[in-house]
Amino acid sequence: MKTLLNLITKEMEQAFQAADYDISYAKVNLSNRPDLCEYQCNGAMAAAKTYRKAPIMIANDVVSYLQNSQCFDMVEAVNPGFINLKVKPSFVADFLNEMAKDEHLGVETAGQPKTIMIDYGGPNVAKPLHVGHLRSAIIGESIKRILRYKGHQVTGDIHLGDWGYQMGLIITELKKRQPDLPYFNETFDREYPKEAPFTIGELEEIYPTASAYAKENEDYREEALQATFQLQNGRRGYRAVWKHIMQVSVEDLKKNYKNLNVDFDLWKGEADAQKYIPDMVKMLKDEGFAHYDQGALVVDVQEETDKKEVPPCMILKSDGAALYDTTDLATLVEREELYKPDEIIYVVDKRQELHFVQVFRCAKKTGIVRPETELTFLGFGTMNGKDGKPFKTREGGVMRLENLIREIDEEMLKKIMENRTVTEEEAKKTAETVGLAAIKYGDLSNQASKDYIFDVDRFTSFEGNTGPYILYTIVRIKSILNKYQETGASLDNLQIKEAESEFEKALMLETAKFNDMLDVVCEEIAPHKICAYIYDTANAFNKFYHETKILSEENEDKRKGYIALLKLTKEVLETCIELLGFEAPERM
Ligand code: ARG
Repeated sequence: MKTLLNLITKEMEQAFQAADYDISYAKVNLSNRPDLCEYQCNGAMAAAKTYRKAPIMIANDVVSYLQNSQCFDMVEAVNPGFINLKVKPSFVADFLNEMAKDEHLGVETAGQPKTIMIDYGGPNVAKPLHVGHLRSAIIGESIKRILRYKGHQVTGDIHLGDWGYQMGLIITELKKRQPDLPYFNETFDREYPKEAPFTIGELEEIYPTASAYAKENEDYREEALQATFQLQNGRRGYRAVWKHIMQVSVEDLKKNYKNLNVDFDLWKGEADAQKYIPDMVKMLKDEGFAHYDQGALVVDVQEETDKKEVPPCMILKSDGAALYDTTDLATLVEREELYKPDEIIYVVDKRQELHFVQVFRCAKKTGIVRPETELTFLGFGTMNGKDGKPFKTREGGVMRLENLIREIDEEMLKKIMENRTVTEEEAKKTAETVGLAAIKYGDLSNQASKDYIFDVDRFTSFEGNTGPYILYTIVRIKSILNKYQETGASLDNLQIKEAESEFEKALMLETAKFNDMLDVVCEEIAPHKICAYIYDTANAFNKFYHETKILSEENEDKRKGYIALLKLTKEVLETCIELLGFEAPERM
């Protein structure tokens, strides 16, 4: 289905054509003077040069062809040459009734659906999930849902950090504590135990202990590096410990992501890419892409137009070990081989941008990815505390995700209990639902690349541009619709009517923007624009609600029209929050 803006522009194009001006000048925009008009066309100003005429003359010409328009209620040429527009209420109502019938609320499926992979989440196994990984999960999940809604074929891959030094540290620490375990006995040749020799709780303690100890103790650090090397080179006992670490951590990660309403199609990781490394290295050498520089194998990726130095991509360290660059390149080999994506979107901290510039260039230059494969880096900013520094616990430590969620939920629960009389149990469940919305909306309402301040008080407020406010609005609409149904009336086959008040029209115009907004969001990969849209729509609804008797409207036709509009508005808002990755409770 066309967007309202498309339809209006079409109408404007016809008028430009009839007046003998080129239709490229007929573009219509949202008004930046909402006090004067709803939409405007500024094309007469641009056309003035071409036609050597005063813009107002052109505007007047065009306007004269719009007097009997099906779409406009008011068309006005104003100095110096703007065309101000108001849309006919019947036109908007027809549009909304069309939209209500459409399965996708008027959003057209992508003409050429793409196969897209999203690399997001990226937690490091055996380390507790911390707030640093929160943004990747929230943003990535939302982008996945948005692109799917538009009809693309999207696969989300968590890309676990499961192959690095942290594994060697855990092995070393475990050996120190329980040297008699069979994993450390090199002559052991039977089957290893099925049960892991640690719980997730223990594992989460082992890693930081080992990591801190290694910083102070050179021998220990050396041993951990050795263990990493041996693990990567297939030492049997270490591979078995690695499997235990994976099994225990992944189970815990799944639980955590489930609480965040985030899910992945693929649980692959750095380890999966390792088997592609030898052939890749051979190719890079054979085809002359790689050369040795001070013992390390590198591929140059500097380009002539670079203003800053872009260091070479590091393929192998002088001791032969693979690096972060290597793993990401090998992962690309794997992805090309197994999935042949049209595009891969990486949702990663923007401080890693240089790494991705190097990897993307190297992958393109060496043919690891096809020339047409699009590689997109979507770097996000830092989540800061109120002091403007990266978010920490009150004691100054790294904030664990679980604790952050708990803090928000407790705050939400307090607020819900303050003004409600629901059972504690129901309030708890509601607090979790609303708490998640508070976190996700707080994050997603900012442009991803920007840093933002995580402000518990603001995010959990029921007023202002917050998740709880949006949910509150949806719940309010639901409750009106429920009450309407309780009178025995049905929500089926209702028609939206022409708006009679300015508040009703404003709400209708907001609701009608949905498909236009979603196309922009897909085009720019910009979930924050969904937030801006639902905030405007929620505001428009609340104004309408305060100014209008809805259920107590005596004219039945009118009442039905209102209900039809509310039903559509609710569907739009619910679809939007679904795309953002959260949902509304029944009551709150
Ligand atoms: N595990 C990495 C980290 O915590 C993020 C992984 C991002 N994805 C990638 N393909 N490199 O920093």
